Amino acid sequence: MANNTLSITDNRTGKTYEIPIEQGAIRALDLRQIKESDDDFGLMTYDPGFGNTASVKSAVSVIDGEKGILRYRGYPIEQLAEQSTFLETSYLLIHGELPSEGQLNQWTNDITNHTFLHENVKKLMEGFRYDAHPMGIFVSTVAALSTFYPDARNLDDENCRIHQIHRLIAKTPTIAGFAYRHRVGLPYNYPDNDLSYAGNFLQMMYKTSQPKYRPNPVLERALDVLFILHADHGQNCSTSAMRGVGSSNVDPYSAMAAAAAALYGPLHGGANEAVLRMLREIGSVKNVPAYIKRVKDREVRLMGFGHRVYKNFDPRATIIKKVADEVFETTGKNPLIDIAVELERIALADDYFVSHKLYPNVDFYSGIIYEAMGFPVEIFPVLFAIGRTPGWLAQWQEGHLDQEQRIARPRQLYQGSDERDYVPVKKR
Ligand code: CMC
Repeated sequence: MANNTLSITDNRTGKTYEIPIEQGAIRALDLRQIKESDDDFGLMTYDPGFGNTASVKSAVSVIDGEKGILRYRGYPIEQLAEQSTFLETSYLLIHGELPSEGQLNQWTNDITNHTFLHENVKKLMEGFRYDAHPMGIFVSTVAALSTFYPDARNLDDENCRIHQIHRLIAKTPTIAGFAYRHRVGLPYNYPDNDLSYAGNFLQMMYKTSQPKYRPNPVLERALDVLFILHADHGQNCSTSAMRGVGSSNVDPYSAMAAAAAALYGPLHGGANEAVLRMLREIGSVKNVPAYIKRVKDREVRLMGFGHRVYKNFDPRATIIKKVADEVFETTGKNPLIDIAVELERIALADDYFVSHKLYPNVDFYSGIIYEAMGFPVEIFPVLFAIGRTPGWLAQWQEGHLDQEQRIARPRQLYQGSDERDYVPVKKR
């Protein structure tokens, strides 16, 4: 018997099956042959939330949750955060290799050329209510872009795909900047293509009457690093949405709107916003023990703690703590940091958190940095979305080129009633 196989004996029938193991996995469809009778559909797996199911083969990023490792295309996140830029990292994610100097210049040029939005997109954004959540505006505007670029449906044309990738990476900061300015009732700032990717974003957020906006270099670099840290993360909820919706061969704008909608949720990209609201609710260091008790009584969750994959530490959280120190030297310390540090200290020593393997994740400190940089809390998930855009697109493209990709169509275990006859309303 080959030793890279799994032998399964079905005790209902006494039959034994031999199933190949590849890369530590079996193919779920191989289980279909396991039947009680000829008219049996065949065995399925039941896996809510995809806790132990690989839905794709991917070469984009890898996470080792036990060792606290995250790599993009093989490069450790620590090295990229230290030495790369967000645009270079985006190239790496999309193309699989770091660019040469010439390739990087061309890439930067291609992205910078697409930062402007069609004036009608601006008009569309102006139609939102004055207090619309920027993430709601972001999701809708990304979806609307599909109507401006109908050529994007040409998915099998490599040039066309890369064109949409340039557009999306270039335009997400502009959409985010406009969404913010809309909310605060200030005129929208057009892109300034002399500035860096992060510097231009800060300009679109904060420029007022000065003829030329000059971003603070410490904050500009910190934002760039934060974008790098968020750029990809395996098959998380929003990336699965991108791939799942993309598997229908819809255009990338529609698929990315779905991904951004998934990111909006408080258990995913909305967590940084939820962390900040939680810290404000706690209000002071002296209230931390009482809040921890509420978490242990399962009244509330400790936002910014816990991860499906990381069970020791989240390497992004470690890098973010360092970035926080640099930012606070420029902006002054955010008073919420003391509450966060105390929460972390108590939680990491507490048996509930230790036994549940709950550690700070990327969102625990990112919100505090964003706030110190002057970003309003509602824009936090949008910042996450800007950072995640190249990852979504790299994964979408990888899926499209994968010969094994089929339209996403999970099975269900039906729990409803058996066939029954319709009863007219008057007789019910
Ligand atoms: N506070 C308190 N208890 C928690 C927490 C938390 N933040 N997270 C998990 N638990 C407990 C949970 O109650 C459960 O306990 P028990 O087994 O005794 O019933 C156990 O830990 C497992 O929880 P789970 O919900 O089954 O774990 P999951 O892998 O499905 O969820 C998670 C992962 C990130 C959604 C969850 O840890 C959570 O809700 N965290 C807070 C929200 C958050 O910070 N999200 C950002 C994630 S990082 C950014 C990103 O990549 O999206």
